Amino acid sequence: MDPAPPPGIDKAAGKIQAMFSRIAPRYDLLNRLLSGGTDVVWRREAARLLAPLPGETCLDLCSGTGDLALAIAKRSAGRARVVAADFTFEMLAIGQEKFRRRGAPIPEAGADGLRLPFPDRTFDGATAAFGVRNFEDLDRGLRELYRVLKPGGRLVVLEFTPEPTGPFAPLVKFHVRRFVPFLGRLVSRDGSAYQYLPDSVGRWPAPDALAARMRSAGFATVDVHLLAFGIAAAHVARKGAP
Ligand SMILES: C[S@@+](CC[C@H](N)C(=O)[O-])C[C@H]1O[C@@H](n2cnc3c(N)ncnc32)[C@H](O)[C@@H]1O
Repeated sequence: MDPAPPPGIDKAAGKIQAMFSRIAPRYDLLNRLLSGGTDVVWRREAARLLAPLPGETCLDLCSGTGDLALAIAKRSAGRARVVAADFTFEMLAIGQEKFRRRGAPIPEAGADGLRLPFPDRTFDGATAAFGVRNFEDLDRGLRELYRVLKPGGRLVVLEFTPEPTGPFAPLVKFHVRRFVPFLGRLVSRDGSAYQYLPDSVGRWPAPDALAARMRSAGFATVDVHLLAFGIAAAHVARKGAP
């Protein structure tokens, strides 16, 4: 069901890891600059939608530098256990230092989303922010997330949408297609990484299509929450009870 990656976008694990390891040192700075701080609000909203309860264990997959893991910990007032997993060491290293500075006891796991090193039915909740778009095989990754969730567990996927709508759509398209690669290249000094962002977003499934893929992976329900005039979407999926 996953179409072959379109020409020009190579999502082989090694390429994706290499790209994120190159941009890791400037990743947080560029997030804030390129989104004007909106990314922080979106992660906070993802944590709210996950609604972690005291005593629960949640996985933040594709955790990168750990901002969503921190938002989940904060949302639960430190009473849910959060595990931050990613397959790029350089991103996790920045996250680890951030957790240490904030005194947040968030363990990290080096993990490929397509082969998660966790037993079936481990987590009460899971999140992936701006991560699953990079999977070489999206359907396999969604099935893995489904597998590691307990019955009744929920998954929140936060991603950009390929076609923002609403009054600011032309402005947003200009921003994503022109300004992001320009400023990204300038600040990260990486010519390709911030061109990959609009290219991969442009070829990403629309919210309804992504919801259908999540249902095909096994999830019983999927609700779509459009954020900031549809620039991004949070998909909230639930694994059926046994
Ligand atoms: C754009 S960053 C998002 C980081 C973080 N979630 C955030 O909101 O800032 C994407 C992250 O996904 C990770 N990633 C991509 N494909 C992955 C995979 N197959 N398994 C694990 N991590 C993956 C990358 O290493 C990178 O850290």
